[in-house]
Amino acid sequence: MGEFRANRYGVARTSERPIQTPERIEATLKSIPAYVEAFEKAFGGPNAVSFDNAARALAAFETTLITPNAPFDRFLRGDDKALTQEQQQGLELFMNTGCAACHSGMNLGGQAYFPFGVVKRPGADILPEDDKGRFAVTNTASDEYVFRASPLRNVALTPPYFHSGEVWDLEQAVAIMGDSQLGRELTKEEASAISAFLRSLTGEQPRITLPILPPSSPSTPKPDQELSAQAASN
Ligand code: HEC
Repeated sequence: MGEFRANRYGVARTSERPIQTPERIEATLKSIPAYVEAFEKAFGGPNAVSFDNAARALAAFETTLITPNAPFDRFLRGDDKALTQEQQQGLELFMNTGCAACHSGMNLGGQAYFPFGVVKRPGADILPEDDKGRFAVTNTASDEYVFRASPLRNVALTPPYFHSGEVWDLEQAVAIMGDSQLGRELTKEEASAISAFLRSLTGEQPRITLPILPPSSPSTPKPDQELSAQAASN
């Protein structure tokens, strides 16, 4: 880590120089006839192949990456049997102990920033070593260790947990949340029930058919090759 960084355009850099820039991405796309055709078809107009349109295409693809019909979704639609007894107890705890205050909405989280350690700051083994969260953006002391409340959909599939990635066990992550965010020591049974509920948030995963990529042309920039003025103005 640290060697590659992405800026807000998602441009990958090594420590010395960019390996991928908007100009290079545009030049590459423009050099491949099948992409030019596909961009013209999708976006129309003479400037169909652009970095911004490439970003739009990626965003449109990302909107298809949804995971519908989790047991919890079916439960919300009225199927009482979609959740086990334990999961229903977990849901109740999730709402009544206060988890839902931060992990709310369609994705059970992702909507706002909160300090990690509202009540009690977790130990150094749980907090990320080189990452003070929002503090890095705002430089305000009160933003130290402030993070976005993680969306909890599919959380059972995505260990390790927290920014530090130090916690692999869902029950343990839940117990830490109880302790640090709510000042409440959850019993083993409570942590298990909440975790069982969180496992009901696993939806149908998208199936992606990888496309066969179109062939490049002689003017396609090669890896490591400086972009020539001609390729850039194509
Ligand atoms: C005050 C707001 C707040 C409350 C209350 C809260 N959380 Fe969180 N939760 C967060 C934040 C912020 C993070 C992100 C921490 C990080 O990434 O280091 C998080 C992360 C998590 C994660 C890790 C997800 C991942 O993918 O890494 C789980 C699981 C979780 N919370 C479950 C719960 C449960 C269960 C409760 C109730 C017992 C709860 N949270 C209460 C704010 C809150």
